[in-house]
Amino acid sequence: MSTAATEPAPSAGDVPTLHVEDVTVRFGGVTALDHVSFDVRPATIHAVIGPNGAGKSTCFNVVSGLYKVSEGTVRFGDDVVVGRRPHQLAHLGIGRAFQNVSLSGHTTVLDTVMLGRHALTSGGFLSAGLRLPKMRKEQARHADRVAEICAFLGLGDRLHRPVTELSYGDQKRVDIARAVATEPKLLMLDEPAAGMNEGETRDMARTITDLRDALGISVLLVEHDMALVMGIADHVTVLDFGKRIADGTPAAIQQDPEVIRAYLGDLAAEGVTADDLDTHHHHHDHHHDHHHDHHHDHPATSGPTEGTSS
Ligand SMILES: Nc1ncnc2c1ncn2[C@@H]1O[C@H](COP(=O)(O)OP(=O)(O)OP(=O)(O)O)[C@@H](O)[C@H]1O
Ligand SMILES: [Mg+2]
Repeated sequence: MSTAATEPAPSAGDVPTLHVEDVTVRFGGVTALDHVSFDVRPATIHAVIGPNGAGKSTCFNVVSGLYKVSEGTVRFGDDVVVGRRPHQLAHLGIGRAFQNVSLSGHTTVLDTVMLGRHALTSGGFLSAGLRLPKMRKEQARHADRVAEICAFLGLGDRLHRPVTELSYGDQKRVDIARAVATEPKLLMLDEPAAGMNEGETRDMARTITDLRDALGISVLLVEHDMALVMGIADHVTVLDFGKRIADGTPAAIQQDPEVIRAYLGDLAAEGVTADDLDTHHHHHDHHHDHHHDHHHDHPATSGPTEGTSS
C-alpha cells in the first residue's frame, strides 16, 4: 500500500510469536481464565472467540498488560508481557484498541491518533521543547504518518473533525488508527465489529486483512461475531467458561463438536441454529442487536486511562 511509504513494513522475521502460556486469572471466586495456552504466529490473524463470559476480554486484558495473572505467563518473543504499563507495551511492539470507544470531547481525529505517536515516543518529542525547529520537524513527520494511517483506515477526509461527530463505526476506526500509530508488531483488537451493521462489519474485516497484509504484523482479535472471524482469521482459539475448548483453523473449528455445543448453548436463546454456524458472513440481526447492548456496559475495557496492573 502506498501509505507504508515513510515507515517500512516489518518483515515477518521482525515479528515475534506471542506465547500465552498456561494462564489462569481468578477474580475472587470466578476463574475467568483456566490454564489457557496458545501461540499467535508472526503475521497471522489470530482470533479468540467464545460465548458471553467465556474470558475473551480477560484474555485481551492480560495480553495487553492490564490484568495480572494468577498463574502462567505471556511472552512476546523473549519479552514478558504481563504486568507491563501501556507505554512499555508500545515499546515491545504491542498496540491495542479498545472494546468500548472512549474518546474525549472536541478532540480531532488527527490529535486523537497522534496520542498513539506519544505512546511510541514516550514523551520524547513533547519534552524536546528547547530544540524547537527539530521538534517541529519531528512533529510534522509524526503528523504525516498519522495522516497516512488515517487515510488507510478510511478517515482521510475527517482528520480535523471532532471524533465525537463521527459515526460509531468511524469512531472505532479512529481507535484502531491510534493503535496502529504506535507501529505495533502485534495489533490487538477487542470486538472491532461490535455494534456495526453487516456492511460496516464487512468493511472492518477487509480493513483488518489489509492492515495485516500491508504491515506484515500479527493481529490478535477478540470477537464474538463468528462470521467475521471465520472469514478472516488464520487461526482460532475458542474459550468457554474460561477454558480453551478448541484451537485450530477456522475450518476445523467450525466442525468441532465442543465449539458447536458451546455456541448453541449461547445462541439458542437468540434463535440461532446449528446451520447458521456453517454460514460464512451470515449476519444475525437479532444476535447483533443483543451484542450491541451487551458490550456497551462492559466494565473491563473502558479506555486507556483505566488502572494498570501495578
Ligand atoms: N474485572 C473483573 N472482576 C471480576 N470478574 C470479572 C472481571 N472481568 C471479568 N470477570 C468475570 O470473568 C468471566 C469472564 O469475563 P470476560 O469479560 O473475560 O468474558 P468475555 O468472553 O469477554 O465475555 P463477553 O462476550 O461478555 O465480552 C466472567 O464470569 C466475568 O464476570
Ligand atoms: Mg468481552
